[in-house]
Amino acid sequence: MKKTIITKDNLFVLHTKTTTYAFHVIESGHIEHLYYGTTLPITNSYEAIKPKYEFREGNLITYDSLYSFVGLENRNLEISTRGKGDIREPMVEITYSNGCSTCDFLYDSYKIHKKQALLTLPCSYDENEEVETLVILLKDKQYDLELELHYSVFYDSDVIVKSTKLRNCSKNEVKVDRLLSAQLDFDKGPYVFHTFKGAWIREMNHQQTICQQGIVVNDSKCGTSSSRSNPFVMISTPQTSEDYGDCFGCNLIYSGNHYEAMEVNAFCNNHFLCGVNPFGFQYNLDPGSTLEAPEAVLTYSNNGYGGMSQHMHQFVKEHIVRGVWKNKERPVLLNSWEASYFDFNEKSLLELAKAGKDVGVELFVLDDGWFGKRNNDRSSLGDWYVNKKKLPNGLEGLAKKVNQLGMDFGIWVEPEMVSYDSDCYRNHPEFAVEIPGQRHSLGRHQLLLDLTNEKVQDYLIDQMTQVFSSANISYVKWDMNRIVSDAFSQCLGSQYQGEFYHRYMLGLYRVLEVLTTSFPTILFESCASGGNRFDLGMMCYMPQVWASDNTDAICRSEIQTGCSYGYPMSVIGAHVSACPNHQTLRNTSLETRFQVACFGLLGYECNLVDMNKEELGKIKEQIIWYKKYRKVLQFGNYYRLKNEEGIYQWITVSKDRTIAIGCYLQTLVKANFVSGYFKAKGLCNNGQYHFTNRMITFDEKELGNLVDQVKKDEMNRFCCEQEDYTINGLVLSTIGVRLKQGFGGSHYNENIRIFQDFASRIYIMEEIKRV
Ligand code: GLA
Repeated sequence: MKKTIITKDNLFVLHTKTTTYAFHVIESGHIEHLYYGTTLPITNSYEAIKPKYEFREGNLITYDSLYSFVGLENRNLEISTRGKGDIREPMVEITYSNGCSTCDFLYDSYKIHKKQALLTLPCSYDENEEVETLVILLKDKQYDLELELHYSVFYDSDVIVKSTKLRNCSKNEVKVDRLLSAQLDFDKGPYVFHTFKGAWIREMNHQQTICQQGIVVNDSKCGTSSSRSNPFVMISTPQTSEDYGDCFGCNLIYSGNHYEAMEVNAFCNNHFLCGVNPFGFQYNLDPGSTLEAPEAVLTYSNNGYGGMSQHMHQFVKEHIVRGVWKNKERPVLLNSWEASYFDFNEKSLLELAKAGKDVGVELFVLDDGWFGKRNNDRSSLGDWYVNKKKLPNGLEGLAKKVNQLGMDFGIWVEPEMVSYDSDCYRNHPEFAVEIPGQRHSLGRHQLLLDLTNEKVQDYLIDQMTQVFSSANISYVKWDMNRIVSDAFSQCLGSQYQGEFYHRYMLGLYRVLEVLTTSFPTILFESCASGGNRFDLGMMCYMPQVWASDNTDAICRSEIQTGCSYGYPMSVIGAHVSACPNHQTLRNTSLETRFQVACFGLLGYECNLVDMNKEELGKIKEQIIWYKKYRKVLQFGNYYRLKNEEGIYQWITVSKDRTIAIGCYLQTLVKANFVSGYFKAKGLCNNGQYHFTNRMITFDEKELGNLVDQVKKDEMNRFCCEQEDYTINGLVLSTIGVRLKQGFGGSHYNENIRIFQDFASRIYIMEEIKRV
């Protein structure tokens, strides 16, 4: 085990490969944060960097007359609590049995051990078991409560994972009003708080707020981590850019209501908190029991947003995603949803699957509509038995035939839900989340099942076990299509309703743990109306997530770019769908749709049966190409390139840097703006690369009557320009390849880059030699 934690007297220093984190215990017993940033030899400079205090400032509260210089309001702390003069948002908030909410956790002791798993929540892990954890034990002596601050040091990923544990050692029950996971205080700002906001089919919009005195909050109150506000956030300076400057990243391993806040106090010091949302949360902690907070994943880079993303990507790939699919190439799938919605039968599905097989698809996924009497979204959730009218041979029969075609078979389920019109609801109305005697507000005509109830958890485990073992099922899309309203559990007493949201998550995680352990070879894809639960909690069980119901290539470029700040491409499901697109009615070329989708886990979600020969030929060729480069596309190191309005550029580079694939996509054409270049990242400076573009063909219609100017091949199609150069890696990353001129309205020949609205190109860089 690498030694990553140094302790010296009251000082604690944590080192990752390129970062250092330090704090110390001050005279009063509080834990003061000293530093988080690029690697520094702090230990020998401790006296110099230690904050100096002779008196407490202005009208701050004096914490205790014994320490008249301690005013907690303006100290950078590792944990803020309520009531002793620290008037910022607390990290821990408790109501004791005497009604009092003032609490004061002071340092008691520390220990260092190998990282351990949380007992109730999904968490990060290390295959090699080389991660050290520092545990700081704090005690509130007044009430006999213990608080542990955990710091796990993931050296190679440059990540520090924090979490907290609260233990009630007293004889009285206490109410926990909040137990957050991490606090990170910074000296004077200004800082920029970056959040990823959105809505259904509009996920992961990068939003930036300059923090001034007051609070900026990024949170979810809807019961899921939510497409409205993803739990991943960044903190940077105003000067930070993609490649330069300080950037901190933070994500929470949790799928429910979360809370990230950046507060600037009266002295311009910044206070960041993250954890389970205190909104709607009150947890009863009985004597002798413990409450765990989810893990918060923190990283820092001085190489801008891009450097921070590299750390997060590596961490998610190595320490979040697990199981047999962790590093395994994901199959090209064909999903039935946008091809046929609820309207299918065995024959039509097999036709679709066969068309998929013919173009090289490896996995056929039957989406919604196969169970109960589900012909629309108003019924049957909860009735997980096959609709024999549609599938007379059951899932087993269908799966067999799909397998015979030479493909794997997968299905869609939405286990956490129940429709009023279902046998499940008729037999077990008490299983639903509903306030008895009150009219329930519905979402997509459905109710949630009460996963706080162990009986419901067992029922779900049983139902899904039956479904997953009923046929040769290789893949499961686990959906969740409404948010929480009327939060109430019929199995929790009135004093425990404040635990509902968190207990729902604990219940869900138990179900997922049991099922993913029982079916270790199934590839699970998490979905919640697209990206409504795109978070690290789900990724601990499901190695991929359907990032958005929006399959429009242009919207997807924005969404996937948003995702890429905190998540690697290997977790992002991305499909090629029909045009006009079903979410936006926009038309984009089949090639652009493919190029965007292949920067994720490629799938198709369109009616291949109705496509013409030429389109099918193109898809076949796309899949052959994708399979050739699949490893680097799915698991390579991904970088965002030039950030320019209307242009998206990405690159993914193989671990050994011998192959890289780049994408250059534009939204709308700017007339007479014909020059363009492609500048790479992540290549080997000493490598000599062969740079080419993926050759594509156009239909003559795309040029209108300009087509008369164009040389066509014998099939009445014409080819795009060809780029073909040898270039050194450093040159390719510094100057870039100057691309052939784009179409500018006045000239055309075969060396002109036809680059219409929504056009894109893929560039391939293959190392020839390393010098
Ligand atoms: C949700 C999912 C879609 C599809 C439908 C089926 O909207 O996000 O991908 O599975 O449900 O009802």
